[in-house]
Amino acid sequence: MKIPEKTQKLLNEQFYNELYAAHVYFAISACLKHSPYQGMSKWMQLQAKEEMEHAMKIYGYLIERGAKFAVDSVKKPEKSDFSSPLEAFKTAYEHEQLVSAQIERIYETANGEKDWVSADFISWFMKEQVEEEKNTYAFVRALEYAGEDKVLIMDIDKWAGNRSE
Ligand SMILES: [Fe+2]
Ligand SMILES: [Fe+2]
Repeated sequence: MKIPEKTQKLLNEQFYNELYAAHVYFAISACLKHSPYQGMSKWMQLQAKEEMEHAMKIYGYLIERGAKFAVDSVKKPEKSDFSSPLEAFKTAYEHEQLVSAQIERIYETANGEKDWVSADFISWFMKEQVEEEKNTYAFVRALEYAGEDKVLIMDIDKWAGNRSE
């Protein structure tokens, strides 16, 4: 069975949404690179890579199911300057919430079109979003707690820099 029309369109869009998410993380990473917070910059760069892997996963699935892949452009991130690590992680957390809504819409649409395979495929992303919201929010919470305390912020930076993949 071919992927039904609406589900296919949304999956195709999600490929670009994931690339857009990578752009958002690259923008944050690049901004933090010009700050003392090298650990958080690294964290954001690794997250950009993960978002590109999400795009690859969707691309692979579309091709596997014989879908016609529609090329499109990736829009430019709204912001490239972040005044603090807290603002950077807040942006990331808010963006992850938006992506969760995009993913849930695909799940709902696939179920509506009785494309159980696509619903099963996208359920991996739903679980992934729980992780991504949790991870970005953990930094928001820690940075809010740290406030203006530079020593604490540097500790959080070390924590971020420990991320391996
Ligand atoms: Fe993603
Ligand atoms: Fe994400």
